[in-house]
Amino acid sequence: NDLTAEWEMKWDPTENTRGTFNFPGGDAIVAFAEANGMQVKGHALIWHQALPGWVASLSAPELRIAFEDHIRGVAGHYRGQVRAWDVVNEAIDDSGRGLRDTVFLRGLGADYVAEAFRLARQADPDAELIYNDYSAEGLGDKSDAVYDLVKGLKQRGVPIDGVGMQMHISATGYPSLANIAANMRRLGALGLKVNISEMDVRISDVSGDLTTRLQVQRQVYHDIVTVCVAEPACESVTFWGFTDAHTWVDAFFGPDDPLLFDERYYAKPAFSGVEDAYLGR
Ligand code: G3I
Repeated sequence: NDLTAEWEMKWDPTENTRGTFNFPGGDAIVAFAEANGMQVKGHALIWHQALPGWVASLSAPELRIAFEDHIRGVAGHYRGQVRAWDVVNEAIDDSGRGLRDTVFLRGLGADYVAEAFRLARQADPDAELIYNDYSAEGLGDKSDAVYDLVKGLKQRGVPIDGVGMQMHISATGYPSLANIAANMRRLGALGLKVNISEMDVRISDVSGDLTTRLQVQRQVYHDIVTVCVAEPACESVTFWGFTDAHTWVDAFFGPDDPLLFDERYYAKPAFSGVEDAYLGR
C-alpha cells in the first residue's frame, strides 16, 4: 500500500540541468500508486549522491540558491501527491562524529539540514518530513549522532516529523532487536514517527543449503518487522525493491537474494515471515 521511488525523484533525474525540472519518472510512479490505491513517499530532496555534476561546481552563494530552488521545485511539484518526503538523506558521518563532509556542509554550513526541512515544509505544508539514514537502526555512535541531530532540530522548532531507518542488513550481522526497539522508543519520545525505509536482508554469507538460508532470512524479516509492529512510534516498513531480479545489492555487495520475492516474482519464505509479523504470528 506504499511506494518509494528508488531513483526517479532524486536530484540527478529531476534537475539534471540547473533550473530545468523533469518529472516524468516520478509522475509515472505517482500515477501507478494512485491507480493501485497506494501512497507515495518521496525520496530524496537532499542527498550527497545522485547529484548532477553542476551542483559541485557552484560557488557557495550559487549553491544556496540552487539548493532552495531544487527543494521548492521538486517538493512543490509533488505537493498533494506524496504523503511524505525523505527531506535529507545520510547526512551523518559513518564514524558517528557529526555531519558527513558533503558539498552541502562545505557550501552551506551545518544549518543546511534545518534549512532543507524548513524549505520542504514551505513547499508542502502537509507532507510528513523525514530524516533518513543507514547503520543507525540500533544503538551506537552513528545512531546516537542521528538522535542528537533530530533532537536538536525538534528543540529548535524545525519542522521534522520522522526518522527513516534504512535497514540494509545481512542475516549474519544486524542490530539486536532490543536495541532497534530502544532506538525507536527514544525517537518516539521526541515526538517523532519512525519507519523502516529501505529494508533488505542479505543471505549470501549464511551457511547451509538454499532452503536453510531462506528460512534464516524469513526469521530475520519476521523478527524485525515484529519490532516495528510492536513499537508505537514505528509507522511503516518499506522494502528496497520487492524482487531479487532487481536489487542494488547485487552490484554493491555481490550476487544475493535479499528481498521478499524471487527472480521469477514468486513469494519466498521471507514474504510469509513479514505476513506473520503483521498478523502477530
Ligand atoms: O537509468 C539511469 C540512466 O538513464 C542514466 O543515464 C544513468 C546515468 O548514470 O543512470 C541510470 O540510473 C541509475 C539508477 O540507479 C536507476 O537504475 C543510476 O546510474 C544508479 O546510480 C542508480 O543507483 C541507485 C542508487 O541509490 C544511487 O541513486 C540504486 O538503484 C538505488 O537502489 C540506491 O538506493 C540508495 C538510496 O537511495 C539511499 N540509501 C542507500 C540505497 C542503496 O545505495
